Amino acid sequence: MKVLMVCLGNICRSPLAHGLLQHKINRLSLDWYVDSAGTSYWHIGELPDERSISIASANGVDIGSQRARQISLADLKIFDIIFVMDSSNFQNVLKLDQKKQYSHKIKLILNSVYPDENRSVPDPYYNDRFQEVFDMLDKATDQIIEDYS
Ligand code: 4NP
Repeated sequence: MKVLMVCLGNICRSPLAHGLLQHKINRLSLDWYVDSAGTSYWHIGELPDERSISIASANGVDIGSQRARQISLADLKIFDIIFVMDSSNFQNVLKLDQKKQYSHKIKLILNSVYPDENRSVPDPYYNDRFQEVFDMLDKATDQIIEDYS
C-alpha cells in the first residue's frame, strides 16, 4: 500500500499525518510506503514547521528528516491513495488530474473517521491549534490502518 498525505504547504498538517502513519506502520511492521507533499511550491525543500516538529516529538513521533515537496501528476499514478486535509486541497489535486483517471484515489482524510461528512483538518499555520490537529490525525491514521491492513 502506497499512501500520500497532502496539504497546502507540506510543512504543518501533512508532515504530521505522514509521521504518524509511518510511526504506526513501523511499529506494526506493515509493508507500506508513506510520503507527503503540498499542493503549493511555497516551502519546497524546507523542514516541517517547528510547531509540527515539537508537537510530534512531544508525542514520540520524529518528523525532523522530512522535507517539503510539491505534488505532481506522477504521484497520482504511483500512490494507491492520496489523503488530502481539506476541500481546497481536494480541488487542487483534482485539477492535476485533467483526464480524470485517478479521482477515485483522492480522499479527505477525516472521512476515514467521519464517513461522508467531508470534514476538513483546520490549517494550524495561523491559529496555532497544533495539538488539536495532531489528535485528529492520530485518530484518522489509526482508522486508515484498520481499514487498509
Ligand atoms: P499546511 O499549512 O498546508 O498544513 O502545511 C500551511 C503552511 C504554510 C502556509 C499555509 C498553510 N503558507 O501560507 O505559507
